[in-house]
This record gives sequence, C-alpha cells and structure tokens, in this order.
Amino acid sequence: MSGHASSVSARGDRARHRAFLDGYYGWAEPLYDVTRKPYLLGRDRALARIAARPYVRLVEVGAGTGRNLARLRALRPDATYAAIEPSAPMRRRLAGRCPWAVVHDGFAEDVDYRALFALARPDVILFSYSLSMIQDPARALRHARASLAPGGEVFVVDFGDLHRVPRSMAQLFHRWLDAFHVRPVDRALLAGERARVEEGRWGYYRIARLPPAPQPRVS
Ligand SMILES: C[S@@+](CC[C@H](N)C(=O)[O-])C[C@H]1O[C@@H](n2cnc3c(N)ncnc32)[C@H](O)[C@@H]1O
Repeated sequence: MSGHASSVSARGDRARHRAFLDGYYGWAEPLYDVTRKPYLLGRDRALARIAARPYVRLVEVGAGTGRNLARLRALRPDATYAAIEPSAPMRRRLAGRCPWAVVHDGFAEDVDYRALFALARPDVILFSYSLSMIQDPARALRHARASLAPGGEVFVVDFGDLHRVPRSMAQLFHRWLDAFHVRPVDRALLAGERARVEEGRWGYYRIARLPPAPQPRVS
C-alpha cells in the first residue's frame, strides 16, 4: 500500500473507531463509574504506585470520565494534568469534572504529547483500561515510551489473561470482552517494551511500568 493509501485507510479506521466509541459511551457514560467499579480492578493500586513516585506532568490516555485524574489530583495537587480522549460524551464529562486538566481530542497512536504541556515531555503516561480498547496497542506503547521525559514512566493497568482460573471461564470472559471491542493486553507485547509487571489476583488484571525508549545517540 502507498503512503497516501495507508494514511487514508488509517483515517477511515479512526472514523469508525470514533463512531463506535461515541455510540457506546453516549448511552454508557451516565452509569459508567458505578457499573465499572466492580470489574475495572487494580486501578486504585496503580494510582497509589504513581502517587508514590515524583512527577510534575502526567497525562492519562483514554481518561474516560476523569475518575483516575480526579483521584490523582487529590493525592498530588502540585502536579499538572492532561487527558487524551477521542469520545465526545466522555470528553464532556471529563472536562466538567477536571476543569484544571488539559483535555485533548486525539488518539493514543499518534497524539503529540509535548503539545499538551507547552512543549515539555510528560513524566508519567497512564493507560488505565484503555490499552485493551486501542486499535494498535503496540504502536501506542512505543509512541508513549518515545515521548516520555528522561526518568519518566508509562503505567498500564488493564485486563490480564486470567491464567489462574479454569480455561473455559477465561474464554467465556474474553468472548464477552470482545463484544465491546476489548482485547486483554498481550504479555509478550509488554515484555518486548521492557515492562516490569505486577499480576493481580487470578491473573484478572496487570499493572505494568515501562521505561522511556532509549534516545538515539548524537555523534
Ligand atoms: C474502559 S474506558 C477507561 C476509562 C478510564 N481510563 C478508567 O480507568 O475508568 C477506555 C477509554 O479509552 C478510550 N479510547 C479508546 N480508544 C482509544 C484510542 N485509540 N486512543 C485514546 N483513547 C482511546 C475510550 O474512549 C474510553 O474512554
């Protein structure tokens, strides 16, 4: 495929993905926080890990209703926050709940992270149950690592592979997730990005911490 043809097809995929997200969250957003609490496990554990490390600039990718950003700001009001969110119903809620954050309409795969903070790089990039919905998670992670400030970290909290429950139950759960365009994060993908991984109970969720991408040497 030529460069032009592939960028046209990527735009078409984005438009379809955005239409799916807007349709889905148009009706799901009002009940989102209450209904997700029982099954988006591990989020508060990940937030506690983040709050314990130093950071000045943090961005959440696929920030949804702003639930995580509001908690982080309560723990670390000294920092600056931004959110990437491609779904309009979610963005409206997010902007109302987090008026102190920069809210940007964009996609994880190619967002310009530095434009969020007046050309400074973020110290933390958080993917909380968004990587499993992102169409090209490998590209999103590579791009996030390459965009970090020196010493920064990408944090991922998301569904695991349920390796500690009977296989038939795990398959049933994964089929149910698939109906909502959700694919658990691949262990090999995280390993390839030099992640340190903490497994949640039953392999239900994982928390991964990824270092910045090595900078090209200037000779
Ligand atoms: C399951 S929700 C998680 C929301 C929030 N992070 C949380 O922990 O409650 C997934 C979010 O990812 C967003 N999303 C989906 N695809 C995305 C993409 N390619 N780039 C950025 N965000 C995306 C969705 O619009 C949605 O808000």
